[in-house]
Amino acid sequence: SRRVRTRDLLAAKERGERWAMLTSYDQYSASIFDEAGIPVLLVGDSAANNVFGYESTLPITVDELLPLVRAVVRATKRPLVVADLPFGSYEEGPAQALRTSVRFMKEGGAHAVKLEGGRRCADQIAALTGAGIPVMAHLGFTPQSEHTLGGYRVQGRGDAAAEVLADAYAVAEAGAFAVVLEMVPGEVAKEITHELPIPTVGIGAGPDTDAQVLVWQDMAGLRTGKGPRFVKRYADLAGVLSEAARRYADEVREGAFPAAEHTFQ
Ligand code: KIV
Ligand code: NA
Repeated sequence: SRRVRTRDLLAAKERGERWAMLTSYDQYSASIFDEAGIPVLLVGDSAANNVFGYESTLPITVDELLPLVRAVVRATKRPLVVADLPFGSYEEGPAQALRTSVRFMKEGGAHAVKLEGGRRCADQIAALTGAGIPVMAHLGFTPQSEHTLGGYRVQGRGDAAAEVLADAYAVAEAGAFAVVLEMVPGEVAKEITHELPIPTVGIGAGPDTDAQVLVWQDMAGLRTGKGPRFVKRYADLAGVLSEAARRYADEVREGAFPAAEHTFQ
């Protein structure tokens, strides 16, 4: 079973088959998601929050994200691995975007990169695809621009829908192989999905995109507390792990662990 290719995702759209993408930042989650048949893994700059404990995605650097990309690629056989370009590593223009992306492809072993922005990134997307690097675009609410967008808010409501649509056409025209639509009204995502020849990947964008993506710790309930409305928790990993840690500590205190079977005679 070979690696998933961008053309497989295009073929899935043509057949009307939906697929799921998850983030991954380490070998265990990556190999479990590979075994589970997840076709695309995103080493998101959301590692800033979910691995490094930063308040936003802005601080994470290429040097911090690269080893995580390498780990996910090394741990998997089948998924297409997409590396997110961190804030500040591609905005200067095509030359900077190319320099950063080559590092993710060459040192990280990524199969594609992702960047945030529509028309403003068209030149970068064209340069990268021209250099043989598949690009996933990201529109709607783009976390790296939270200070311009005024916080975590739905984008593309009312008249602003035309802006998101124009950005979607621009990234497809520039050569992107797919586009993430984050926090846009379901009807807008549906229209973009219908209009574009490339797959749309929704997060908080309703049921009518070609694919969906979630941060894995949100999907699996490792992160607790109030999450965004678009998250569905499919497990309670935080509860499972907390219970395991408590039982382990209890057994150590009681002298029940280690037992004879854990001890070398
Ligand atoms: O970094 C990330 O996790 C993302 C996805 C939520 C699309 O960009
Ligand atoms: Na991201």
